[in-house]
Amino acid sequence: MDIDIRKATQADLKDIKTILSFYYLDTENVEKNLPEFIIAQMNNKIVGCACLDLGDVVELRSIAVLPSYRNKGVGSNLVDAILKRAQDLTKIVYLRTTSPVFFEKKGFKRLQNNEKKSVWKECMQCEKYDICRQTMMKIEMTT
Ligand SMILES: CC(C)(COP(=O)(O)OP(=O)(O)OC[C@H]1O[C@@H](n2cnc3c(N)ncnc32)[C@H](O)[C@@H]1OP(=O)(O)O)[C@@H](O)C(=O)NCCC(=O)NCCS
Repeated sequence: MDIDIRKATQADLKDIKTILSFYYLDTENVEKNLPEFIIAQMNNKIVGCACLDLGDVVELRSIAVLPSYRNKGVGSNLVDAILKRAQDLTKIVYLRTTSPVFFEKKGFKRLQNNEKKSVWKECMQCEKYDICRQTMMKIEMTT
């Protein structure tokens, strides 16, 4: 089955939130970040989403694929599209994730523990810093 990747529109909001909710990922900022969301479709069904957060650092966020559509290449296609978009905007894309092995396959490298606080200011104040289960990663853009 073909996987189509396109920019998200207002009409996709509900589907995006549904997909993120499966994994308890943040749904509060979807409206605000909608211009940087992309979605994946198979047979006209929205099956995955991802976002390039253009904050203090450029970060791949909110990537998720509907449970029954995982392991079909959707996530991989979403990462490729996000990195293509990032190519024009930045030299490094960061990421915080509980699925580091997937992202290693896409070329991301794990950050050293001491790099986290210098990349994400909010990590400095976070009371859960010492028990954080998220792996911090980055990928450098090649020209
Ligand atoms: C992580 C996720 C987006 C991957 O999407 P996907 O469509 O299932 O991934 P793909 O089918 O493109 O997989 C590409 C490769 O990564 C592997 N892979 C997929 N999910 C993986 C995971 N969670 N951990 C390790 N490897 C994974 C696949 O087996 C495949 O390997 P191969 O190329 O050797 O065959 C998806 O599993 C998901 O939605 N997970 C829950 C939400 C989540 O954790 N999001 C990340 C938050 S930052």
